[in-house]
Amino acid sequence: MTADALPSRSVQLAPSILSCDFARLGEELQAIGSADWAHVDVMDGAFVPNISFGLPILSAARRASPLFMDVHLMIESPERYLKAFADAGADGLTVHVESTKHIHRAVQQIRELGKKAGVTLNPGTPLDAVKPVLADVDLVLIMSVNPGFGGQKFIPESLERVRTVRRWLDELGSAAVLQVDGGVTPANARAVADAGATCLVAGSAVYGPDGAQAGLRRLREALAVGEET
Ligand code: DX5
Ligand code: ZN
Repeated sequence: MTADALPSRSVQLAPSILSCDFARLGEELQAIGSADWAHVDVMDGAFVPNISFGLPILSAARRASPLFMDVHLMIESPERYLKAFADAGADGLTVHVESTKHIHRAVQQIRELGKKAGVTLNPGTPLDAVKPVLADVDLVLIMSVNPGFGGQKFIPESLERVRTVRRWLDELGSAAVLQVDGGVTPANARAVADAGATCLVAGSAVYGPDGAQAGLRRLREALAVGEET
């Protein structure tokens, strides 16, 4: 899917390029060309213990692929960099409630930049923290691992958090994307979708030893189970 529109299928896949081979970034993006979004994990070594990459990699990814660039900012005070990431090619920008004193302002700034605004929170943060901006966002991301690293194990309690936010969005009549990120695999993808998620991020489950196309296919097959009923 290109940057023109938000995806419309019931459950979208957003492979995280964090797990790709950066020496072959262009090819790795080509390999996920059939996915809905590219998920771009930016880490600053302060908000999370790890440093991933920043603006130059996003801009290279933007040049290499027409996919919707779904940028997950794991950085302190993200409002300092929203415009820079928008200029570098982000289509959507997701900010953590824990990373800013002004989550409402950050969401407004993303919208003023003409980008899709997302809000997220760590697994240990009470869900209520997203409520004040729920009606203003295009995406809510439930983190199902502690942010910072790919390849971690899905936290099972996340399913209940997805169900709760699904209910809140439905009560609001919101069409916001409900995204889940961390430890998503073919073994749990169907359960995550059944809990109400509409977009699944997957890093290590996509960029595995047999390549991203095979990884994507396995996730799609897992999601298809039970769809006919
Ligand atoms: C974790 C990142 C995730 C990560 C997911 O901090 O936000 O997007 O890349 O990787 P997997 O799917 O391997 O858990
Ligand atoms: Zn992420």
